[in-house]
Amino acid sequence: MSDNIQDFSDLAALQEADRRHHLHPFTDPQALVSAPPFIVDNAKGVFIEGQNIRVLDAMAGLGCVNIGYGRKEMADVASAMMQKLSYYHSFAAVSNPPAAALCEKLASLAPGDLNKVFFANSGSEANESVIKLVHMYWQLKGQADKRIFISRDFAYHGSTIAASALNGLTAMHSPFGIETSGSVEHVTAPFWYRFGGELSPNDFGIQAAKSIEDKILELGPDNVAAFIGEPIQGTLGAIIPPDSYWPEVERICRKYNVLLVADEVVTGFGRTGTWFAQEKFGFQADIMTLAKGLSSGYQPISAVIINDDIASVVTEKPEVLQHGFTTSAHPVAAAVALKNIEIIEREGLVERVAGEIGTYFAEIIGALSDHPLVGEVRICGLCCGIELAKNKATREQYPYEFSLCNHVSQAAIGQRIIVRPGGNVVMMFPPLIIEKSEIDMLAKGLRIALDHVYGMLVAEGMAG
Ligand SMILES: Cc1ncc(COP(=O)(O)O)c(C=O)c1O
Repeated sequence: MSDNIQDFSDLAALQEADRRHHLHPFTDPQALVSAPPFIVDNAKGVFIEGQNIRVLDAMAGLGCVNIGYGRKEMADVASAMMQKLSYYHSFAAVSNPPAAALCEKLASLAPGDLNKVFFANSGSEANESVIKLVHMYWQLKGQADKRIFISRDFAYHGSTIAASALNGLTAMHSPFGIETSGSVEHVTAPFWYRFGGELSPNDFGIQAAKSIEDKILELGPDNVAAFIGEPIQGTLGAIIPPDSYWPEVERICRKYNVLLVADEVVTGFGRTGTWFAQEKFGFQADIMTLAKGLSSGYQPISAVIINDDIASVVTEKPEVLQHGFTTSAHPVAAAVALKNIEIIEREGLVERVAGEIGTYFAEIIGALSDHPLVGEVRICGLCCGIELAKNKATREQYPYEFSLCNHVSQAAIGQRIIVRPGGNVVMMFPPLIIEKSEIDMLAKGLRIALDHVYGMLVAEGMAG
């Protein structure tokens, strides 16, 4: 390879360098033994490209590239800000123009009295910051025993230690010896398709919310600090709750004086057809976390927005907030986030998801529910989970060991489409700028991929 570190022309050398030296997140290292890493080197709109392959990215990266890839005006803003103020910190009452403007903008967009913003760099850090702010709030209120967080099965709130403990995925606890007992309790996810049995979705939504009330009563309301949830559980199945769920969760939290935290890291910035999914599902959180769509992945930036009550409690005493990051409120990231929001507003992307494009997506992708391998297609805005099932009537699943979703996503790559497997669900969270013709391409490619996997099951005599 050339001595010039910016010379990226030798693909084989880059793959080898990466294979030797890159410890990849959420990657089975064996996958890199059998095949080199796939090197993505450019992206535009809804397409990513690498190794001479161009693929429609129906996952918007990791559900983050809301405005699509490769926008010049985003690059221009980053470049201009980098030349003007490449960095300065926000500790000790210092700020910078884009950070000041961004927190005001976020307060104006956020529902209710979510008005005060703490900046971090990732969704994990935002949720980690929530845990500290909530502990601080209850201590200052003289209720220091209120320390337990209630979260849910299948939840994903990040990968730092405390955020991992919030996750409802034991696979993320055991390799690191992360203990949840005493700090986080998990309750039922509002996952009607899997756990709703004979109940109607709305009756099941009430039952799933009641599992929170039961847990609060079991632990004692004086020990419960907060309930945290993603309005739609994205990471493992695009779990779209029944309409009855969130208003009931809010009622329960209010009744027992438990703070309600909405992790809108995925659902924020238009993905469900409203700026934030709280508006869609009809509830108001006390704290909201944001990342991903805040900058559409153009820069690492995240935010915690707290309501007026929490803000007044945590700021009332002349004591230094013992929390923060070197790059909190980074001027370049803040400028990029502001431009991202400007684009979402200017192009009416939220309205687009609520209107024509969301409706088209629901119609065209929803039609895949007639496929013999598909039990249900769940869609809310541009969040989609295609649940594979062995028996449509009983909602019986194929065994996880069949890895059917992995096979579907592999076959989809053959059709030049990226979707994400999660358990028995094929997920899509495409950029909000996706066009009708691209949705057609998705539906067509996915049907071929589903046919392929179903054909394999039939050939082996294992189809439901
Ligand atoms: C709902 C939710 N919260 C938090 C996170 C963690 O965000 P990050 O990967 O930026 O730390 C994610 C990431 O996928 C997420 O989906």
